[in-house]
Amino acid sequence: MNILETEGLYHDFSGLLVLFDVNLEVKEGERHAIIGPNGAGKTTLFNVITGTYSPSRGRVTFKGKEVTGWKPHNLTRVGMGRSFQITSTFSRLTTFQNIRMGILSKRRIRFNLFRKVDKMQNITEETDDVLKRINLDGERDLPASMLSYGKHRSLEISMALATDPDLVMLDEPTAGMSRDETHHAVELIRRLTEGKTVVIIEHDMDVVFSLADRITVLHLGHILASGPPGEIRESQAVKDAYLGETEV
Ligand SMILES: Nc1ncnc2c1ncn2[C@@H]1O[C@H](COP(=O)(O)OP(=O)(O)OP(=O)(O)O)[C@@H](O)[C@H]1O
Ligand SMILES: [Mg+2]
Repeated sequence: MNILETEGLYHDFSGLLVLFDVNLEVKEGERHAIIGPNGAGKTTLFNVITGTYSPSRGRVTFKGKEVTGWKPHNLTRVGMGRSFQITSTFSRLTTFQNIRMGILSKRRIRFNLFRKVDKMQNITEETDDVLKRINLDGERDLPASMLSYGKHRSLEISMALATDPDLVMLDEPTAGMSRDETHHAVELIRRLTEGKTVVIIEHDMDVVFSLADRITVLHLGHILASGPPGEIRESQAVKDAYLGETEV
């Protein structure tokens, strides 16, 4: 079953056509990478799917339900989570407080009608548990702004997952990371997204080919190819348009 589909999606910025007849299919439980050159429209596609923009034309379907033009908070409520290309943690809050914020928002969303958020003890324990799993327990009480770049991005990935989404969309989670940090981030993503559906925009081909079950190539606002990694690696159209002479 497809957990996410776009049909005939178009988007323009004041007449500049950025997405052009995009038909994306993401199967439940897969890790799906979206690749393509700078300016291909990847982030815009995320923004249209996650409700930051309404598409000029076309439909977005999530878990079998049309959600075109839904606001981000309504999409979060039905199980869609995302991270941003630019870091979006709360820099003055501590690592602990950032994670707790994500957990609280999940509680409010899921249990608002039935109980008040008064079990702070449980939430503290759950937050500390998450911090351990993401290896940030040593930085628990540091403001997010004091974390190293790699740890900061890890925190952000974790916040996208703190709402326990069924689908998580990650926009370049390893951007700007060192080799080592990238390796850790990939392991973190792998661990935290077990059994979930992931759509990840990524430029690092090592990450793409080690993580993805399927790859969609976006080029000049439309889908050039979509398929398993082996097929994408062999595709002449992809090599010509995107990978150029690069060996992948
Ligand atoms: N808010 C905006 N207003 C006008 N044009 C925009 C806006 N956001 C993006 N664009 C343009 O839309 C096109 C696609 O941009 P987008 O950010 O979606 O690309 P991308 O594939 O994510 O690129 P990158 O790999 O560099 O992140 C680009 O030409 C960009 O300049
Ligand atoms: Mg982008």
